[in-house]
Parts: sequence; C-alpha cells; structure tokens
Amino acid sequence: KNPTITVDADYVIAPITPLTYGGFTEHMGRCIYGGIYDPGNSLSDANGFRTDVIEALKELKTPVVRYPGGNFVATYHWLDGVGPKEHRPKRPELAWQGVESNQFGTDEFMQWCELVGAEPYLCLNFGTGTLDEALGWLEYCNSSADTYYANLRRKNGRENPYNVKYWALGNEVWGPWQVLQSTPSAYSHQAYQWAKALKLQDPSIKLILCGKDGLSSWDHQVLKECVKVDAHGLNGDLTRSLIDMHSIHLYTASQDYVANIVAPRAAERAIQITSGLIDLARIENGVSPSVPKQKICFDEWNVWDPVRAPGELGAEEKYTLSDALAVAVWLNVFIRQAAHIGMATIAQSVNVISPLMTSPTGIHKQMTWWPLKLFSEHMRGDSLAVHVCAPAYEGSTTPAWIRAATDTPWLDVSAARDDDGFTNLAVVNVSPDEDFQTVMNVREGYMRSFTLTAEGMGSVAKEDGIDPIKHDTWYAKGQIEYLFPRHSLTILKF
Ligand code: AHR
Repeated sequence: KNPTITVDADYVIAPITPLTYGGFTEHMGRCIYGGIYDPGNSLSDANGFRTDVIEALKELKTPVVRYPGGNFVATYHWLDGVGPKEHRPKRPELAWQGVESNQFGTDEFMQWCELVGAEPYLCLNFGTGTLDEALGWLEYCNSSADTYYANLRRKNGRENPYNVKYWALGNEVWGPWQVLQSTPSAYSHQAYQWAKALKLQDPSIKLILCGKDGLSSWDHQVLKECVKVDAHGLNGDLTRSLIDMHSIHLYTASQDYVANIVAPRAAERAIQITSGLIDLARIENGVSPSVPKQKICFDEWNVWDPVRAPGELGAEEKYTLSDALAVAVWLNVFIRQAAHIGMATIAQSVNVISPLMTSPTGIHKQMTWWPLKLFSEHMRGDSLAVHVCAPAYEGSTTPAWIRAATDTPWLDVSAARDDDGFTNLAVVNVSPDEDFQTVMNVREGYMRSFTLTAEGMGSVAKEDGIDPIKHDTWYAKGQIEYLFPRHSLTILKF
C-alpha cells in the first residue's frame, strides 16, 4: 500500500517564528577570524567584514545571530573588545586553547549584524564575569542615558543604542568542561538575581535561561527555581516573568547514514518534554496563565561528531547528503513543534560545524546549506498539522531511546501555510534505497517541487557552487500521486 500524507491548510498548529532560522558566531576556530572578519582580504569591506559571507547569510534571511559563545564566553570580558583596536589586549583563550586578539568585539558585531539584517543575541559570561560587567554591557548596548558605559559607546563612535533584545544567562553552565561549572541550585540563584538586575536596567529585554538538553534534572530544577512570578518586580506587575525562554542544546550524529538522519527526532522529544517541564514549573509556582508561556530557545543545534571534527581543531565538518537530510529533519522538528519554539540558532554560521565555509578566495556552500535555504525560503507562516502513514525505519538509533519515545517513519514530514496562502510540504525520504510513491490531496492549481538529492548518502557538495536543487512545475488537482525519491528532501508548494 502506498504511503499517504494528509494535510489541511485550515489545521493550524501555531505560527512559525521567523527566529527559527537564526545563526551563531562564536570566537572559535575560523568562525570570526578568517570567517566573518578577514581584514586585508580583497573580499572584505573597509571594516574587514567578508562581503561574500554577508551576502550568503542574507540569502538565508538569517534573522538573529547569537554571539560571542558558546564555551568561549565563560572567560570573555566585553570591555577588552571595544575602543581603539591598537589598545585592545590579547588574552589567553581557555575554551578552545588559543589567543584572543579582541580585534573583533561588540561594536564590530553590531555593525556586522546590521549589514546582515539580523538581530544580535548576546550571551553573558557566567564563568569569570560579574554582574557589574553584565550590567555595563547592557548599558553600553542599550542605554540612551548620560551614563558612563552609554557615553563610552558614544566615544567609540556610536551615538544611538543598539537595542539588543535577546540576552542569554550563561552558556552550558552545567558542563564539566566549563570554566566555572555550576550546580542547578547555585546557577538558578545567580541567574534569577542577575535577571532581576538586568530587567531593572532595561525591562524591554528578553532573557534566556541556560538549559541542558531539555530532558535532564538540570532543566527540571532550574526551570522549577526560575520560572515564577516576579512578585517584587517593577510596579508590582504580576503579569511579568523575569525569564522569557529556556535554552537547550543538542548535536546529533551517527556513523550509520540512516540513523544519522533519524537522530534529530531526539530533539523533538526533548522539545516536548521541556515544554512539559515549563508547564510543571508554572503550575507548581502558581504562575498565572496570563503570563506568556516561556518558549524554547534551541540555541545550539546541528549535526556534529566531535571525534570527527574536534572543537579544539576548529570543528570543520565536511557534510554529506546524509547530514543535509538530517538538517532537514532538524528543521521539520522545529516546524512541527512551532508552538514551543521561540528561537533556534544553528551552531554555527561560518566554518565551525557550518554549512558555509570560507577560504581566502571565496566561500563554499556545503550540502547542509541547501536544506537551510529551502526551509528559510518556503517553510514560514503557520505550522500545519500533517498526518503521515508510511512504513517505519527499524534499525538502531542514536540516541538509542529514540525508538522507544517517538516514531521513525521513512517519510519525515512537516507542513506550513505561508503568507501567500500556499501550503508547503517538506518531505525527507530517509530511505537509502526505496522511492516512495505517495498519495495526497492538493488544491487545484500549479504545483511546484524543489528537490535536493545526490548520487549517494555520502555525497558531498560539488566545488562548482552550482545550486543542486531541481525544480519542477505542473498543474494538479484533487488526489495526486507523487514519487519521493530515495535519500532526498522535497518541498512541495501548492
Ligand atoms: O558550538 C560549539 C560548542 O558546543 C559551543 O561553544 C558550546 O556551547 C557547545 O558545547
């Protein structure tokens, strides 16, 4: 029996936040230096920003970029990276064991974001950083008052505040590799107290709590301790919560091509469980339903095998078709779980575990670039409920618990109704050797398809830079049959 896909443009799950397609630039490997910032290169502008990288990220419509780490941030002092470049100190960099020149810092990042058209999302130093420094950074970025750090920004050439909206309360503070690893209760106390002070200074900002993988006792405990009503907040406003989002991180990978593609389904379960933990914290802490529910900020996600591409060596992954299909499943997860996602930022945007690689003479778009581009172009608007009836993958999974916790159909599907009223169906045929003839109902009119595939699961992107996506258009009506080729991603628009 042929698989079936049933979708109805009226069955809306939730709006898809445009922030789903965010990026991340860390001072790590060649992401900043030699990636987005390459002074003296003929491809760079007068500020040293690589224009080919900016154009590429504009092509992806990157809406938000997280900075400056990652693990890097645990010893980062933002003041080192502002002011005249010749006075900026070089520092030992502990996370990735390098030297930080500080030639690229806050003002450069803000200018770069403006060129990309992305909102900045800053992560605070919860390692060696102090609350004073964090407040100073917020003042430097957002204040229009006649005060010290706002004036320092003016002195450094920027009159108007940058109005940075998103601020993370630390990065992976739970990790044993972290400079100043914390415990859930110590972190919760610090995060909540910092959150109070930061929002006293700028109530308009959104604060992101540092979670783990969404399924851990860390997540459970910090949510329980921090997601509560800000009873002593400004003007006794009981409809306000200090915490706006909870971050989770997950990297997937498997040596097995199929298990590799299925692995991001773990993220789907993690999102559902985190959302439940948020509900639980709100119920236990008596948070009124009138306080908007905290969403998930999936601020590090991707395919990464740290043995294959160690962080200390710059984590330069070479991505295959299997990885590209895994990225498509990742994005399907975000679309299906749109009700819970407040932001997602792929780790990372350039060179480091990235779809986009630079060399001194140009850029290379890896296989994983193409699903990102297709999704960013088509999978916007509202997430739609979709029912898939297809045979399931039954091999081993990484992590092993995916099998027990979620389905693994050979066709992994999400659907979106865009602002022009089109239904967009994203279908990953996970199978290495089977094409699936599928039955579905479509509305009458022209139908378009965009298909990404290659000779085999291990194929990598050609160096010629030519767009590998095949397009087709035809007239369709009512019940149709469509063949999804083995190891492919197809977007159908109707
Ligand atoms: O993105 C690479 C690293 O992975 C980040 O610095 C860290 O937060 C995570 O462990």
